[in-house]
Amino acid sequence: MKSNLSNIKKSKYYLDKNECVGIPTETVYGLAGNAYSEKATSKIFKLKKRPKNNPLIVHYHNLKMLRNDCIINKKFLKLYKKFCPGPITFILQLKKESKISQNVTNKKKTLAVRFPKHFITRKLLKNLKYPLAAPSANISTKISPVSRSDVQDEFGKKIKFILDGGYSKIGLESTIISLTNNPKILRLGGIEISKINRLLKTNLKFNSKNKNVAAPGQGRVHYSPGIPIRLNVNSPKRDEAFILIKKRKFSGKNFYYLTKTKNLNEAAKNLYKTMRIIKKKKFKKIAVEKIPNKGLGLTINDRLNRASNK
Ligand code: TXA
Ligand code: MG
Repeated sequence: MKSNLSNIKKSKYYLDKNECVGIPTETVYGLAGNAYSEKATSKIFKLKKRPKNNPLIVHYHNLKMLRNDCIINKKFLKLYKKFCPGPITFILQLKKESKISQNVTNKKKTLAVRFPKHFITRKLLKNLKYPLAAPSANISTKISPVSRSDVQDEFGKKIKFILDGGYSKIGLESTIISLTNNPKILRLGGIEISKINRLLKTNLKFNSKNKNVAAPGQGRVHYSPGIPIRLNVNSPKRDEAFILIKKRKFSGKNFYYLTKTKNLNEAAKNLYKTMRIIKKKKFKKIAVEKIPNKGLGLTINDRLNRASNK
């Protein structure tokens, strides 16, 4: 991992010129551009082949900059103090005077904001005069990248620079909570809902089938490795890559462990990485062992369910 100052300077150089740069975060890598620039943000959509009606998350270094763009409320401050920087995204009301590009919001009055924890990206954000719009750095509907080389695989020479920050520590995208009205969970992610509920004294639940609350980009076919996935499998077929979370006595060449000890944080970290390896090995099918629906297991199962829709 090269995290020296010159790479941060290089990223700033390109970003200041309205180019897109791959950035590491603790959740997944992002494809970043100046959130105030029409030019930079339209490049993001083009590169990702992302539908224009799917708004972008904007990444900030601190509250001070956020206040230029969003109206801040008490619940937000509570969550911010506890979890930020970290893997949580807030939907807030956009201020009239905000300079956020209309590409980012799809002309809506709300904005998704996040304070990523990765120290390299924090250093970069601190050095910029604008926040960074950064969706996950993958072609639309495909698996999110968790390393520099994953981003390279997605975009090749089409992007100017990718800032290397090693493997993403969490390995799954941020939890999204809407705070423009009564709080609603729009996406399961790196922060467990139970922790949010404890803090806000709420009983929020996530309903993946409820189209009214889902984030626009949470279509049923998402996070797809492009090959069929079978879930809750005990005995895999011979031609399936088998994803497991606890050690078995006998192992096959087609076995891919996310963790050997049912550690669901470790499993989350290895999920997308493993799916990419399996794809590269040219497997045509994936089978996955049952993963408990608790802790980050809930997020892992959410992603697997979506991925298995194609
Ligand atoms: O962990 C993450 O959140 C990563 C890293 C790079 O920060 N980013 C990420 O971005 O996952 P993306 O674009 O792949 O997913 C953002 C989701 C999309 O489903 C989008 O529809 C939703 O956030 N979203 C963005 N703005 C929104 C808004 N104003 N209201 C509701 N949903 C919004
Ligand atoms: Mg994404």
